[in-house]
Amino acid sequence: TRKIIIDTDPGQDDAVAILLALASPELDVLGITCVAGNVPLALTSKNARVVCELAGRTEVPVFAGCDRPLARKLVTAEYVHGKTGLDGIALPEPSMALQERHAVDFLIETLRSESAGTVTLCPLGPLTNIATALQRAPEIAARISEIVLMGGAYFEVGNTTPAAEFNIHVDPQAAEIVFGSGVPLVVMPLDVTHKALTTRARVEAFRNLGTPVGHAVASWTDFFERFDMAKYGSEGAPLHDPCVIAYLLKPDLFSGRHINVEIETSSELTMGMTVADWWRVTDRAPNAMFMGDVDAAGFYALLTERLARL
Ligand code: BDR
Ligand code: CA
Repeated sequence: TRKIIIDTDPGQDDAVAILLALASPELDVLGITCVAGNVPLALTSKNARVVCELAGRTEVPVFAGCDRPLARKLVTAEYVHGKTGLDGIALPEPSMALQERHAVDFLIETLRSESAGTVTLCPLGPLTNIATALQRAPEIAARISEIVLMGGAYFEVGNTTPAAEFNIHVDPQAAEIVFGSGVPLVVMPLDVTHKALTTRARVEAFRNLGTPVGHAVASWTDFFERFDMAKYGSEGAPLHDPCVIAYLLKPDLFSGRHINVEIETSSELTMGMTVADWWRVTDRAPNAMFMGDVDAAGFYALLTERLARL
């Protein structure tokens, strides 16, 4: 099995990603670290526990981390995810406790205590927790197996500003630290996630699982879809964050290029843009496997098959 830490701001698509990981025996979820993003930290750290309880996995430790970006004011996305961050279905208040340790301490201590090169980080929200850990304990960089994250965009450009994707836009300074860390990176940008759209048939497949998990995922997707369908006129919504977990399970579903990606942190106009050297027009060293395409049918088949196990 592969040891992972999920760093997240649930969010309906984060929730589906967590469920996909918990349903997959290939993955050992050492912990879930929460960050402020889609909604404030108090809600993301509650929602992560709601999801663990839905999956019947109350032993997975959930940690609260940074409540605001490194340098900028927190911008949230209730207009996409609803007031709770998990609108679409009413689930019980979690009874499992939040861990007392700060998420950043958990990240640092885990990376120090596990064998070097065995822990993969899976950031699904703004990169504040990961960047803070790297700043505080730079030696952990060499101990991380890889960072597989959802964020950024190249051909699809922005969903939050014309130039930037939400996770990177919320904390560009943190993204700059992560992209400059030297840790092997795999990036799932909007270019990929906007090809992994829910369709009626795919949502019905979740509902037809006939389980509480299937029902919740279908209800979340129904809610989440409205935003993208209205905005982009697309046939469904992108399930962004589950792409990260799907990559760990079936990397062949995705294709991309190993290229240089830099983060814009000075221009307000293009703040948080992922400047991806897709055509290799510079001699800047590659620092990321930047994905561009996904086998959407294969992705949904994997997701549905795994969710059926919960
Ligand atoms: C990202 O932003 C959030 O709204 C989603 O959870 C995803 O992580 C997509 O831009
Ligand atoms: Ca997210």
